[in-house]
Amino acid sequence: MKKLIGLKKVKTAVFISGTGSNLKNLIKFSKTKKSPISINLIISNTMKAKGLKYAISNDIEKKIINFKYRGAAEKKIFSLMRKNDIKFICLAGFMKVLSGNFINKFNGKIINIHPSLLPKYKGLNTHEKAIKNKDNFSGCTVHFVDKKLDSGKIIMQKKVRILKNESPISLAGKILKQEHKLYPAAIMKVLS
Ligand code: GRF
Repeated sequence: MKKLIGLKKVKTAVFISGTGSNLKNLIKFSKTKKSPISINLIISNTMKAKGLKYAISNDIEKKIINFKYRGAAEKKIFSLMRKNDIKFICLAGFMKVLSGNFINKFNGKIINIHPSLLPKYKGLNTHEKAIKNKDNFSGCTVHFVDKKLDSGKIIMQKKVRILKNESPISLAGKILKQEHKLYPAAIMKVLS
């Protein structure tokens, strides 16, 4: 991966589906001198993603891709990647599962952030699961994306303590705060 680094920043696409707080944070990070990435493309599977506003306010190309037919959607994304010379992909709250075929094309160049201490609690409702199991800690993980959901090699994790009477909402808020520190740190680890 590190061989992608030259003097120029690695052109990166961020895939989102929702609020986009990680996207907002990654855009801010990408503008710092130390950042090894620039964000050149934002993909959303829905026009309802609130995070799309950050594409507009930062003048970054955005595309909404309907995933009803995944093969066709991925074909469109692949050609956008080529057109924009994208070399790295950050999934940030992207709610669609990419095919093995697509992942192979970007082998080792797609990373994701997940709100649990993987391998615990893959998939959805991670905060509910951690609280229900009376765990003392949860947290977040940045990992490489491979063909199995939330299963690729772990890059970095951050633990967050679960307090007595913690609610899924309060835990999500605490973890999200850590996600905003962890994602840039993990990108630095992979690319600098
Ligand atoms: C984050 O908790 C992320 O870990 C998960 O989805 C949430 C997205 O939040 N995959 P945001 O859209 O970046 O605010």
